[in-house]
Amino acid sequence: MSIENVLVVGLGMMGHGIAQTSAQAGLTTYVYDNDEKSRDRGVARISEQVMGRVSKGKLTEEQAQKILGRIIPVSRFEEAKNADLVIEAVFEDLDLKREVFRALDKVMPDATIFASNTSALPISPMAAVTQRPDRFIGVHFHSPVVVMRLVEVIRGLRTSDETLEAVQGFLQRVQKSPVEVKKDSPGFITNRVYMPMFNEAVWTVYEGVATVEDVDQAMRDGFNFPMGPLQLGDFVGLDTMLHILEDLNEQCGGNKFIPCPLHRSLVASGYLGKKSGQGFYSYG
Ligand SMILES: NC(=O)c1ccc[n+]([C@@H]2O[C@H](COP(=O)([O-])OP(=O)(O)OC[C@H]3O[C@@H](n4cnc5c(N)ncnc54)[C@H](O)[C@@H]3O)[C@@H](O)[C@H]2O)c1
Repeated sequence: MSIENVLVVGLGMMGHGIAQTSAQAGLTTYVYDNDEKSRDRGVARISEQVMGRVSKGKLTEEQAQKILGRIIPVSRFEEAKNADLVIEAVFEDLDLKREVFRALDKVMPDATIFASNTSALPISPMAAVTQRPDRFIGVHFHSPVVVMRLVEVIRGLRTSDETLEAVQGFLQRVQKSPVEVKKDSPGFITNRVYMPMFNEAVWTVYEGVATVEDVDQAMRDGFNFPMGPLQLGDFVGLDTMLHILEDLNEQCGGNKFIPCPLHRSLVASGYLGKKSGQGFYSYG
């Protein structure tokens, strides 16, 4: 199955990036948000970014207008009924996502594939509220969407091979690099591997073994990482990092994901990383 038309539901930070990526690759892209102001803000952001590429000489004015012409704001799912793929990017809340998919399932044709851009929620409980669990899948884009190539593609318990293939084909077309997560498992690949490393780095600082700068330098110079784990945590947001750790800790147990008291103190003090101007590092 070839995907030509896409509907993005939720046009916040991730949704607008996903819509821009899709339109830039030549797909008709419907955009919906239950808050029309957020939808319009998302469309305006896409327009700013695309026109910014014209100023930088990366696109012609004509190419930019074509891309923007492929973004179609809608106020009801019915207006996007010819979408082959729906990508949901609403708040990270399982009940909310289930409610959105239940509503979509009533309106969208049987053949339409549903995908959730959840960072960490399990896919199968979302698929279970629809009549199409075989045509349901996780697509974990990374932020900023337009720049980052990785997309984790997560199979739910009942996701079919055809759905996986169609979504991988779509991701290649929009110039992303899909990686298959074979099981609906906490943290998928990226957070499962990165979060224990970040956590251990925080404990290393907390126990006085090394400074923040030296932990990051060791990981950069010793393993060729472009950025140390603590600095990356600052970029993601230390509050978000704490939320993910707590969630993984609850789902997986063991001691890999137990947050460090230093991490909790930083978050409680409003040191949230780059976005607040202060985390493990200061950002002028
Ligand atoms: N922010 C990240 O770095 C990141 C990375 C990967 C995945 N994600 C995931 O992507 C999803 C979206 O995250 P975000 O950072 O873009 O959030 P956001 O808060 O920026 O945007 C969410 C949007 O969803 C809209 N929305 C809420 N309820 C809705 C509904 N019922 N119907 C339609 N729209 C609705 C909101 O109005 C808002 O515009 C979450 O599941 C998040 O975990 C986020």
